[in-house]
Amino acid sequence: MAGVGFKSITKIFGKDVKAVDNLDLDIRDKEFMVLVGPSGCGKTTALRMIAGLEEATSGDLMIGDRRVNDVPPKDRDIAMVFQNYALYPHMSVYDNIAFGLRLRELKGFLWQLANSAEAKKIKTDIDARVHEAAKMLDIDHLLHRKPKELSGGQRQRVALGRAIVRKPKVFLMDEPLSNLDAKLRIQTRAELIRLHRDLGITTIYVTHDQVEAMTMGQRIAVMSGGVLQQCDEPEVVYNQPANKFVAGFIGAPPMNFVDGTISGGRFVSDVLTVPLPTGHPAAAMDGKKVTFGIRPEDVSDASLVSGADEAFCFTARVDVLEKLGAEDTAYLKIGEHSMIASLEPKNRLEMGSDHKFVIDGAKIHIFDGESERAIR
Ligand SMILES: Nc1ncnc2c1ncn2[C@@H]1O[C@H](COP(=O)(O)OP(=O)(O)OP(=O)(O)O)[C@@H](O)[C@H]1O
Ligand SMILES: [Mg+2]
Repeated sequence: MAGVGFKSITKIFGKDVKAVDNLDLDIRDKEFMVLVGPSGCGKTTALRMIAGLEEATSGDLMIGDRRVNDVPPKDRDIAMVFQNYALYPHMSVYDNIAFGLRLRELKGFLWQLANSAEAKKIKTDIDARVHEAAKMLDIDHLLHRKPKELSGGQRQRVALGRAIVRKPKVFLMDEPLSNLDAKLRIQTRAELIRLHRDLGITTIYVTHDQVEAMTMGQRIAVMSGGVLQQCDEPEVVYNQPANKFVAGFIGAPPMNFVDGTISGGRFVSDVLTVPLPTGHPAAAMDGKKVTFGIRPEDVSDASLVSGADEAFCFTARVDVLEKLGAEDTAYLKIGEHSMIASLEPKNRLEMGSDHKFVIDGAKIHIFDGESERAIR
């Protein structure tokens, strides 16, 4: 078991493609860490550096307390599951899972021919590990099949099995669920969480899907343009985003933003005027250009909130109303400005008509107009 450390790691491809920019990130022993961010933000590159498939341009890469920059991939004791899990098509599921183990454990033997007591013991041990992993992943009834005789989700689990049997120090997973349909993705997501709980192996999981990040990560590291934006527990990243990028990236539908200024302890713009909570550090920054943020679920139908404070109310036209069952998503227009509200289904909204909404004053976010950093 081991943690993984990026110490001022930079990766530059060619002359000037900075894929990872001065990354400092410590993944704890046994932790499930999710790297999340939009396409091209450097997630795969970061993972490939841990695997040793890509060399860091500068900085120190640690596995446990060992600097591994110069350690060849096969000696790093990590297992990686890729988005395109390449199974060997001519081998059975069993052989696919056992393959890496045989290579490693029996490298001195011609394993099929070897008959020594030692080779037999290794074979029995491999057999036990393959069955144990297959059972854990619910593919033990498929061990004789070839990959082409499996569904996408089953193939995915074979790829996971191949990684599990190696009992590595660290698991690296690069969008391992992206080939699965929505239902299977949710199911496999839960299986991976359980698997991590059972095995307790340090796992670094890459995804561009913020829902996956929120549901799977013990901590999530949000990246943009090769730069780490924030690393914390999902609730913290969601409720206290470090900057406007993180606030807009994590959460669906995304946070609403309005640009404006601070005046007399209030956020003021031509769209909205909202008092800041007493003691909010932005309240004293008269004249400062800021961006106001509010999540869709923190905007309510004012007619359903008893004693709604007028100071937090605004009127908007209901452009589109989507009925999702558990909640409704309302696309609002305040003049030309768009906002989204997630509302209880019992709202009395009608598409095309004006309506009064209220903002939860305790849930507002203020970002610096220039640096875009959260002011709190
Ligand atoms: N071998 C390479 N040579 C040159 N540039 C590369 C190479 N690999 C990646 N890049 C660039 O580095 C940046 C980061 O790429 P990376 O694959 O790490 O992104 P990612 O976050 O995994 O994106 P995605 O979600 O699309 O998989 C991108 O700008 C990409 O074009
Ligand atoms: Mg990638």
